Amino acid sequence: MGKKLVLAYSGGLDTSVAIRWLAKKGYDVVAYMADVGQGVSFDAYKKRAMAAGAIKVRIDDLKKEFVEDFIFKSLKAGAVYEGGYLLATALSRPLIAKGLVKAAHDEGAGLVAHGCTGKGNDQVRFEVSIGALDPKLKVIAPLREWELRTRNEEIEYARTNHIPIQTTKKKSYSIDVNLWGISIESGPLEDPYHEPDEDIYKITRGIGSSSAKPVYIEIEFKNGAPVKLNGKAMDGVSLISRLAKIAGDAGIGRSDMIENRLVGIKSREIYEAPAAWTLMAAHKALEGLTLDRELAHFKESIALKYAELVYYGLWYTPLREALDKFIDDTQRKVNGTVRLKLHKGNCVVTGRKSPDSLYRKELATYEEGDKFDQSLAKGFIEIWGLPYKK
Ligand code: ARG
Repeated sequence: MGKKLVLAYSGGLDTSVAIRWLAKKGYDVVAYMADVGQGVSFDAYKKRAMAAGAIKVRIDDLKKEFVEDFIFKSLKAGAVYEGGYLLATALSRPLIAKGLVKAAHDEGAGLVAHGCTGKGNDQVRFEVSIGALDPKLKVIAPLREWELRTRNEEIEYARTNHIPIQTTKKKSYSIDVNLWGISIESGPLEDPYHEPDEDIYKITRGIGSSSAKPVYIEIEFKNGAPVKLNGKAMDGVSLISRLAKIAGDAGIGRSDMIENRLVGIKSREIYEAPAAWTLMAAHKALEGLTLDRELAHFKESIALKYAELVYYGLWYTPLREALDKFIDDTQRKVNGTVRLKLHKGNCVVTGRKSPDSLYRKELATYEEGDKFDQSLAKGFIEIWGLPYKK
């Protein structure tokens, strides 16, 4: 019997080849799969892992935890990386790492492995998270070590080792899918001037093929988290799945970025996150109605930091935890309903209402019933502008 090792297994080419490579090195490989809403056939992947040489496959359904402890935290924080990325992949990594560590403990394994390359952010996110959760675990990253240089060499390795994979030598995108969104990179996208082919998009329609008629939706929030869609109470997982379909059909949620990776490389990535962008827009609109000005402005400044923490793999850190306590406190009054119009890629907020609204019509109105004493403005401006007159 070899040394037991638990591998974070995605079911794709890299990790399937990794199973055999690790097995050949003498490890007893347990393949660990986390269901974070990637919508794949886990049964088929389980067979593939066993065929590749795993001694066992473990599958954990982490969707509920993903939504409640990761996605909604990021939504409440308003975290957006470099203006275009709602962090779907980045948010899933610390959760998968947590599941992996737990699996290693349950299996009595002192070793874990992942299928990330040495150039990306995900290796950092996995290893920093694993280290924070159990510093004693040793991590192996086959893709940083093995002699297989290209995708085609991996395919060749899979073929000669009889590992059942579907990939052909042509299809060259790297795709990561979960409930919050999809990340697509490499292949033709490596040319930043190349327009993405329409068929890379999995959950959003293009402007041309999305519905000619606008769709109205209503989202209700409680303490900053969505609880109802179109008047129907739903758990977070169902709400996001349902909304992704509606918003994706309306062409919402695509972004095309050159982003700055943690390891210093600029890379091209295409994202699809229809539910995420719609919820972000709705949540922001409700905050506009319910948050005090100073709180709202301060919170915007930490949204940026929060996005960096998530992107940089610093989830299990004192700063992220402290920020979440602050953010949760800001969300006590973020209750109410937002109405949106989704049409051909546009996500437009058309109305918002809240029992905790800070909007006062009698102060804002230009009509009858104005309670704002305009005569006070003169003195206010006098003092406000005083330093610049002197
Ligand atoms: N660039 C994104 C991130 O670092 C996604 C990485 C994974 N992308 C992929 N297509 N496999 O979070």
